[in-house]
Amino acid sequence: MGEAASKKFYLTTPIYYVNDAPHIGHAYTTTAGDVLTRWHRQRGEEVWFLTGVDEHGTKVERAAEQGGVTPQEWVDRLVADEWLPVLETVDARNDDFIRTTDPRHAIAVQRFWEVVRENGYVYAAPYVGPYCVGCEEFKLAGDLTPGTGEYEGQQLCPVHGRPVEQVEEDNWFFKLSAFAEQLIAYYEANPDRIEPVSAYNEVMSFLRQGLVDISMSRSSVGWGIPLPWDEKQVVYVWFDALLNYATAVGYGADPESEAGRQFARTWPADVHLVGKDILRFHAVYWPAMLMAAGLELPRKVFAHGWLLVGGEKMSKTKLTGIAPSEIIDHFGSDAFRYYFLRAIAFGQDGSFSWEDMSARYTAELANGLGNLASRATAMVNKYCEGRLPAAGALTAAEEMLRTHLAEVTEQADTAIVALDFATGIVAVKQFIDAVNLYVTEQAPWVLAKDPANEVRLHTVLNTICESLRGIAVLYYPLMPKAMESLWSQLGADAAIGAIVDQRIDSVGTWAQLPAGSVVTKGESLFPRLDDVA
Ligand code: ME8
Ligand code: MG
Repeated sequence: MGEAASKKFYLTTPIYYVNDAPHIGHAYTTTAGDVLTRWHRQRGEEVWFLTGVDEHGTKVERAAEQGGVTPQEWVDRLVADEWLPVLETVDARNDDFIRTTDPRHAIAVQRFWEVVRENGYVYAAPYVGPYCVGCEEFKLAGDLTPGTGEYEGQQLCPVHGRPVEQVEEDNWFFKLSAFAEQLIAYYEANPDRIEPVSAYNEVMSFLRQGLVDISMSRSSVGWGIPLPWDEKQVVYVWFDALLNYATAVGYGADPESEAGRQFARTWPADVHLVGKDILRFHAVYWPAMLMAAGLELPRKVFAHGWLLVGGEKMSKTKLTGIAPSEIIDHFGSDAFRYYFLRAIAFGQDGSFSWEDMSARYTAELANGLGNLASRATAMVNKYCEGRLPAAGALTAAEEMLRTHLAEVTEQADTAIVALDFATGIVAVKQFIDAVNLYVTEQAPWVLAKDPANEVRLHTVLNTICESLRGIAVLYYPLMPKAMESLWSQLGADAAIGAIVDQRIDSVGTWAQLPAGSVVTKGESLFPRLDDVA
């Protein structure tokens, strides 16, 4: 195969700090990325989904110190015991996992900063000013809020609610100020590069205030990647971490090598998925770094909202995190994935409540979809010996479902590609409601009482199963385990192949399940909560 391979759809999550274990805020971003990349795979695209961890910096260094181990021991342990397992817990299908302590990363970070320095954008100067360790960020005066109570007289970081530290050290600076005009022009010409609109507006007003140069190294921090031209200093943790998006896919490698070809086929990123806490790093500093090195800019930064606890951002620093397993042990990973993308408009803040999650689980998953699937497979077993019956002539009721499925497929595709998960999910849910209504109206259990209605009974059961076929594919990226199970209960594997190979653009093609397929009444897709141990 000598031909130039096509560009992959490349999506990243932030790389999370390993100062502590993950909470549902981190799982939220990873889940959204997983659903979106699985969706693009179902569209037949080649996809690359990257996630990973941010291991350097003061925050991690101090956590290790408090834990009484070296930073390397600390991160190795947390990655193995917490950050890799949580990917299994939420059922993420990432293609790679980058650690900033990986040699592939460290070497390429050094190369990158050599290039930027050669291009004239790095110079030595002292830094004096406030720093928030929680954010790992040099703060500007306008970023801080005055403290009250125990913090009276001090300046606080509004995200972490803690006093900032005064830093005074000799650093190397990145000439960020050189890129303000270019960035403004770029975003004015390409407003879809930052979403949602609230995030775009925030970045533009920040840029219009002008940019000041920023430290790209730290001399008082030991845990990091040494500057190649000044080994007493390490690269400032953000200017190490952001580069993961490029280093993980082969930045800096020989273009003829496998890694180099990977870079050509993957860069630029199509979506950097981030929380709104780290928007400025991704939509201002990161593109400026890329401009300074002559690299292409990412196609989109999408900043989603925060999961709140008591009205504030759930956070490791404030110890307000809920572990994903607390919810998933009870509801399962599919319901977790469903709930957070269904109940919170992506881009806005939201909060988790056990009551709301239980209510939606019962109404929408157990009663809505689960019950439909179990009724359908049970009736095919009871009335047709477990073989999918052939449909007779379709009436208006069947035609309506057939048209509706084609429509929701388009609606869901448009919404999800635009990262409007809730709208996509609701479109499918409305179709499920329509199929449930159809079951009630057609009452196959009544038809089954009179052999004269046999053709009609078969048509109705066939239509319900065919509708479930469409639902299974549309919900597969969201709830892979349950939809895989539904798929095999419908006998679809044997008849039309694995669910993972089904394409979104053919979901709307009716009558794909052949008559005679073996339909089994398997396990309940969403067991009732009082049945859950
Ligand atoms: O910022 N609600 O890492 P981090 C929603 N290492 N999402 C949340 C959340 C919440 N309450 N809390 C965390 C860092 N997140 C850097 C990133 S990238 C080059 C370096 C999610 O461990 C959300 O995606 O603080 C947020 O942006 C990210 O975790 C921050 O994770
Ligand atoms: Mg954070």
